Amino acid sequence: MSGPVTARSEPIVPPAEVRVAPSILSADFGDLAGAVSWVAPATDWLHVDVMDGHFVPNLTIGPPVVASLRRHSSAFFDCHLMMTNPGEYLEAFKKAGADLTTVHAEIGGTAELIAEMRRLGLAVGLALNPDTPLAVAAPYLRDIDMLLVMSVFPGFGGQSFMAEVVPKIAEARVAAENDYDTHYVIEVDGGIDEHTASVTAAAGARVFVAGSAVFGSKDPAAAVRAIRHAAMSAL
Ligand code: DX5
Ligand code: ZN
Repeated sequence: MSGPVTARSEPIVPPAEVRVAPSILSADFGDLAGAVSWVAPATDWLHVDVMDGHFVPNLTIGPPVVASLRRHSSAFFDCHLMMTNPGEYLEAFKKAGADLTTVHAEIGGTAELIAEMRRLGLAVGLALNPDTPLAVAAPYLRDIDMLLVMSVFPGFGGQSFMAEVVPKIAEARVAAENDYDTHYVIEVDGGIDEHTASVTAAAGARVFVAGSAVFGSKDPAAAVRAIRHAAMSAL
């Protein structure tokens, strides 16, 4: 690893705004381009769940699929890397068109992974499983663009929201408010619908990943707008 490592000074989501990031994990993998086109009128984010069959017991998408999606979308690609060895793939995701990559704090090597993401020009996300305390991310909060608080154990879509993570979201918001040198936005992922978006927005979340609530709906764009409205109403 070499080259300059410069942290961003601007938040990736403007203050007082929210974003809904539809998770294509819940879309029809045979028609991902169609899924992307359905939600594009309602949001400029897309959440890409990358699972390696090791960090989580499931296999999904890799850089070639991200590259294909890039040809169909100008959205901000929020790539959630549920991987034991994301460092081996960061450059490939960048070349494929990822805008942000999120690595899990549980795998260790966080400082090196953040440095590599910066070197590549990727926005930096750090994820915490439901049972991982904020203290594990604390040394890195000044260096990241997004903190992903998982509200299910990663691996599968369609699970139920775990309300016990809400205090961790509030704790992360307080930590950000108490340190002017932080610029991270809080994302929540797992079991998000209008109700849980409202609860987590009130606690401090600003990016809402939603898979089944969006792609399980007859009108995915309307579902995105409803989640966004519920979150905005709770601010
Ligand atoms: C879980 C994934 C989530 C998931 C969200 O491992 O990280 O992004 O797909 O799906 P829903 O909204 O159905 O919980
Ligand atoms: Zn995810």
